[in-house]
This record gives sequence, C-alpha cells and structure tokens, in this order.
Amino acid sequence: MKNIFLAFTLLITLIVKADEGMWLPQLLNALNINDMKKNGLKLSAEQIYSVNKSSLKDAIVQFAGGCTAEIISDQGLILTNHHCGYSAIAYHSTVEKDYLTKGFWAMNKNEEVYTPNLNATIIQRIEDVTDRVLKGVSMTITESKRDSITKANIKQIEKESIAGTHYESFIRPFFYGNEYYLFVVETFKDVRMVGAPPSSIGRFGGETDNWMWPRHNADFSVFRIYANKDNKPAEYSSENVPYKPKHVIPISLKGYKKDDFTMVYGFPGRTQEYLSSYAVDMIMNESDPLKVSLREKRLKIMNQDMLQNDAVRIAYASKYASIANYYKKWMGEMNGLKKYDALTKKQFFEQQFSESINGNPIKKEKYGHLFSELQKVYGEYKILNKQVDYYNECLMAIDAFAYARNYNTLFNELYKKQKGLSNTFDKTIAEYKKMGYYKNYNKSTDIKICEAMLNEYVKGVQANNRPYVLDSFIVSHNNDVKKMTEFLYANTNFVDRDKTESMLNDFEKNASLYEKDPVLYITNAILKYYNTSVFPQFQYDEREINELQKLYVQGQKEVFKNKKFYPDANSTLRIAYGKVNNYKPKDGVEYHYATTLDGTMEKEVEGHEEFTVPARLKELYLKKDFGRYTDKNGKMPVAFTASNHTTGGNSGSPVFNAKGQLIGTNFDRNWEGTMSDIMYNPNQCRNIVLDVRYTLFIIDKFAGAGYLLNEMKLIK
Ligand code: ARG
Ligand code: GLU
Repeated sequence: MKNIFLAFTLLITLIVKADEGMWLPQLLNALNINDMKKNGLKLSAEQIYSVNKSSLKDAIVQFAGGCTAEIISDQGLILTNHHCGYSAIAYHSTVEKDYLTKGFWAMNKNEEVYTPNLNATIIQRIEDVTDRVLKGVSMTITESKRDSITKANIKQIEKESIAGTHYESFIRPFFYGNEYYLFVVETFKDVRMVGAPPSSIGRFGGETDNWMWPRHNADFSVFRIYANKDNKPAEYSSENVPYKPKHVIPISLKGYKKDDFTMVYGFPGRTQEYLSSYAVDMIMNESDPLKVSLREKRLKIMNQDMLQNDAVRIAYASKYASIANYYKKWMGEMNGLKKYDALTKKQFFEQQFSESINGNPIKKEKYGHLFSELQKVYGEYKILNKQVDYYNECLMAIDAFAYARNYNTLFNELYKKQKGLSNTFDKTIAEYKKMGYYKNYNKSTDIKICEAMLNEYVKGVQANNRPYVLDSFIVSHNNDVKKMTEFLYANTNFVDRDKTESMLNDFEKNASLYEKDPVLYITNAILKYYNTSVFPQFQYDEREINELQKLYVQGQKEVFKNKKFYPDANSTLRIAYGKVNNYKPKDGVEYHYATTLDGTMEKEVEGHEEFTVPARLKELYLKKDFGRYTDKNGKMPVAFTASNHTTGGNSGSPVFNAKGQLIGTNFDRNWEGTMSDIMYNPNQCRNIVLDVRYTLFIIDKFAGAGYLLNEMKLIK
C-alpha cells in the first residue's frame, strides 16, 4: 500500500509541478487563467495578451535577438539587463570614454547614442496555423515529401500573413512539430543607448556570483526605441522620434513579500522537458561532465594568463565571461539532475506510460515501440554526440582553428570570382579586413590552449574516431603534441595580426600559397572528417529522435489527459508565473528570498575586480540617502528570488506583480535550479530578479539621471 502511494505521489510530482511551465500567452484563457487567479493574479487574460486591444504583450520586447526588454515610458524607453546591453556598451566604449568601467548616462535625448545592428522586436499577433502547415501531409507519404510540403506551406502562410504591411513573420514548430504557430512581428532598427551603470554595479560579483544566490548587483541598462514620424520602424535617422507604444508598464515602488504572485513575460530560448531517460542519461552523465571538464581546462589557462597580464585580461574578459557562463550552468545542471534523481524519475514515468498504453491495443500499436527505438537511436547518437562535443568544446576551442575555418568562405568566393560565377569576394574580404579578431586574441594563450585541447582530444577520442590526417601529423612530430603545436603556430598566417593583414592584402595573388597554411590544413582535415563521418549521421539521428519525440509528446498528451502541457522554450513569447519564494540549497541552510545593499557592502573587497563598490555608492549607503526607494525596514532592496520557470533569453524580462505592475527585471537563475531546462524541481528552481527600486535608485540617486523617471508611471 505504502509503495503504491509513493509511486502515485512520485507520478503526480512528475506531471503537475507547481510553478513549472512557460506558457503561450494566447492560450492563457484556455489553460491557465483560473490557476493564475487562484494564485493571486488580478488581471484578465485579455489584459495580458490581446490582438485587438492594447495589453501587456505590447510592452514586451525581444532585445538584440537573444534577450528580453520592457517598455517603461510612453516615449519608447526600455529596460533590460546590463549583460544584455553589454556588447552595445562595449561598442561605444573607448579607453578615453570607458562606459564599461564608468557607466554611461545620456542627460537628454540628444545624448542618446544609436547602436548599429541593435534591434527591438514587438509581437503583433500569434496564431495557431497547424492545420494549414500540415495541409496535404498524410501518414503514407515519405518524410522528405512531408518536409517539402510543410516547408512550402510555411513559406506561403508567412508571406500571406504580412501582405501589404511593414511587419515580418515566421512560423515555429512546437511540441516537436505536433503544432505550429505563426508570429507576426514589428522590428525596430533604431535603438539608442540611454544609460548603464558602471560594471562595478551592473556586474558586481562577476563570475563568482554568476548563477548564484544571494545576489547584489544591479544588472540593468536602459535604451530607447525610435520610429519614423508615422511611429513605424525605420533605419537610423536624426529625423526619427521616440516610439509611442501601445502599452506602458507601470512601475510599483511598493515591493513584495514572500508568496506574492509573480509573472515573467519574455522570450525564453531553449528547454527540453519531454526527453526520455536515455537522453537525460546522456546529458547528465556524459555530455555535461565532458563539456565542463574541457571548459575547465580552457578557463584555467585563460585565467592564469589574464592574471599575469593586463592586456590579456582585457582582451579575454568577454570571451572568458561567456565560456565561464555555460561552464557553470552545465555544472549546476548535472549536479541538480543527480541530486533530484532525475534519471529514476524519468524511468519511472516511462514505466507508467508503458503500463498505461499496454492496456489499450490501439495505443500500444501506436506508441509501443517508442522506448525501444529511443534506446536504440541513443545508443548510436550518444557516441556521435560525444564527437560533436569534442568538436565544439575542444577542437574549435582552439581560436586559431576556429578562425582559420572562416577562411574557407573567402577561398570559395575567390574561386567563384575567378571563374566569373559571382563576385561577393570583394565585399567579403573588406569585412575580413575590418574584423576585430585580434583585439581579443593572445597568441601564447592560444598555444597553451591548443596543446591542452589536442592532448584532451587524443586522450578522449579513440584513434578510429579521429581524422587520420591529424593523427599522422602528430606522429610526424614524434607524438609530441607540444612540438607539433609550436610548429603550427610558427608557420601559420592565422595567429599574428601582421601576417594576417599582409595575407589579406595580397590574398588574390597568393591564394594558392595561403591555402597550404598548416593550421588551415589541419582544420580542413578535421572539417572533412566531421562532414563525412560525423555530422551527416548525427543530423540523421537528430531527425529520427525528433520524430520519436513528436510521437512521445503526442502519446503523453493522450495518456495524461488531465495534465496541462506547455511547449519547450524556442525563443518565442512566453509567460511563467509563480511566487516570491526562498529555498533550501542544502541540508541545514535556508536562503532568504530578498537581498539589500547591506549585502553589497558586506561583499566588498577593496581592490578586487569583481567586488569593488564605487565610492559614490558607498557614500549614498553611509548617508542612507535612499530616497523613496527603500523597503519597509528603511533598507535599500537589491534582488529577490521567485519560483518562475525561466531560462536563457529571459534575461531582461519584466517581472510583474498581480496587477501587472513592474516589480523587477529577471537576470539569472540559481545554481541549484539550472536543471530546470531538463527537469523542473519546484523545491530548488528559482529565477533571480533585480528589484526595480534598486534600478530607480541607481538611475536617480547614483547617476543623477532622475529626469528619466518623469517619463515613467510610478505607483507609490
Ligand atoms: N548567468 C546569466 C545568464 O545566463 C548571466 C550571464 C552574464 N554574467 C556573467 N557574469 N557572465 O546569462
Ligand atoms: N542570464 C540568462 C540570460 O541571459 C538568464 C538566466 C537563465 O538562464 O535563466 O538570459
């Protein structure tokens, strides 16, 4: 009896976990609104998403392709994360005007700076087009026929949906292609930087605090969308005017308390919640550990060089941050999955699924083969996946190889030009000449990485799974990888700025000579091997897995009729809702859900790059000059955690209270909860939010840009 009960509760936690889910905003009425209201929401589904009336969705922006931002004034002012604006801030920074270090604030609209290639996209409408996409597709036709029919349908629908408008549109598959949705969007191209705090505030805590709670940084930056006189998107022009949005998000100064309703509205990038145990096994026991160990070696080498040399430190800062970011995430993910016993949970779920379909001949016929086939494909796929991991995280972790790889395009374009086929070469080579590659490159660091990575590769991949040319090259250097690396770097044009420049200057004349470059030779041998022996089968298996997953999700929906399903994140607009909540990271430890400026001061380490508190902030703190932004205890709130299901891409997303007022900006997840991309653990998964009162305090009191607050709708 006890066992049955246990099994039952385990199953229930597997299918209905509080706070889990990234929901489609246009389906709230059908799926979530009652539950949301039960949890405190005071808005109607229409107020959150509507096609005809203005709603919250009109103030949600996909920022720079991979992040989210929110509109907080009727003059197109948008708020996002510091790390989302980072490359724009860096773009405008010079040694003299170092906005990364000192921060940037436009004191009026004339000082706002246009940033090339920075886009802001707003969703106009979302439509279920499944039937239209699958029109003409039947069970009897071949896979490739089906692909070509759906592709043609998609193209047609996308075109029709925007005829006669300035909008853009795209269709994405959901639930592995069980459903298709159309997105009609408006993309603004004139986006200007308005303000950013110094890194000592925006990135306070740096890599040490990244993915961690408790948190003490103000990860925000401010931009403005500009439109033409008709309020439509336009290329940059001094004639453009601030965009007038359909909805402006009001900002609450009232704060929150534990268990208050919260909602995150944004563009989560990628999750994989419906995988089989075979996939989860591969990820947590093989792929994540491998990627983590390879990145660890690379980061260690970089770090040593960065500590020893200031120029290297600056050159590698952003590269290091991005490698370190997922290194730490994968580590958290595999630890979290293990601790939660994710594999057993998946296996148990599969057992329940099988038992349920076995009782029904029709379902058995349809789904009975799923697990044996998944097991079979994964048996092969995981070997290939390991090879692909080695390709991405080991071989192409060598900058010289990854850089040389790009040049194949240039050679091809040159040969096309010489044959009179097309001439894109002149334009492309001009771009190569402009490429700022060497700004972030240090040869001796790369040599160390190359040697370490090649050793890892030879150690980790069996000889029969390696490109023969690479092996014989190593043999020709007496199996001495160090010697071979030295030879490569001494004889290539891809690791010295001067050599690369002079190569680009007489590229046309001497192309055949440059094509014999030893680094290019090795890189192309690797590419050739992967293109013939790994990638085709890998992609074939991926398609097969996708087909099986498509069926598996369909089966889950049939078997667990009462469960509400949400599609995996795919960089489309979603809603997550949950509560302000604390958590217990380990036995005997409980984290409070909110932090204050006291904690920033406690973390201060003078002279430490990640933990320096700027003098002006310290002064405000000591004078307790917090203005109207304090919490109930008179302290300056900084960040909080809540149980919203989020992932990469949700950075910068607005976090709302029950009334649809802004209480913060999402910027991270807790380390113990990064497993939520694969399996959501309600006890451990938390999103991390910058308290909007700290944002306003920094703008107003620290930066003296309080004039911006006049544009905002503040709720006191
Ligand atoms: N972990 C956050 C996200 O996934 C922030 C990354 C940027 N910050 C950093 N310290 N590297 O993107
Ligand atoms: N920092 C992440 C981003 O850039 C959000 C954290 C997460 O993965 O949840 O989107």
